[in-house]
Amino acid sequence: MERTFLMVKPDGVQRGLIGEVITRFERRGFKMVASRFERLPDARVMEHYAEHVQKPFFPGLKAYITSGPCFMMVWEGKDIVKISRDMIGATNPAGAAPGTIRGDFALEIGMNVIHGSDSVETANREIAIHFKPEELVSYTRID
Ligand code: CMP
Repeated sequence: MERTFLMVKPDGVQRGLIGEVITRFERRGFKMVASRFERLPDARVMEHYAEHVQKPFFPGLKAYITSGPCFMMVWEGKDIVKISRDMIGATNPAGAAPGTIRGDFALEIGMNVIHGSDSVETANREIAIHFKPEELVSYTRID
């Protein structure tokens, strides 16, 4: 079954949006199989955002993502990578459609509430960065 990595970022945590995010994914029929609430260590930020380390916005991104705890999750379900990206909305909330998480709750690209993996390959990489295989649980969802 396909999996993805989702992370409620510090602005989403501080604004009390963890439950809203979980509810949307649960209602859609997806299954959470791992979670952790933590402030990201610098080394893991560098690994997670490796493709952005050289970008001009990276210092601001790093300061923001380590400014408070993040709620890290692994979710599972059919076509979850594409569907979760659709549910999250465009990276820049200014262009995110109403009804998406960013379209409903964010305005700034630098504070866009949630991260979701952009491909199956990226999802597998990000899950491995943040979770050990034994942290992923197995259970039946009843729909
Ligand atoms: P995310 O989907 O987590 O992946 C990369 C992050 O970099 C992105 O969300 C934004 O939070 C951030 N980002 C991308 N482009 C910019 C930008 N131009 N200015 C500030 N932050 C950015």
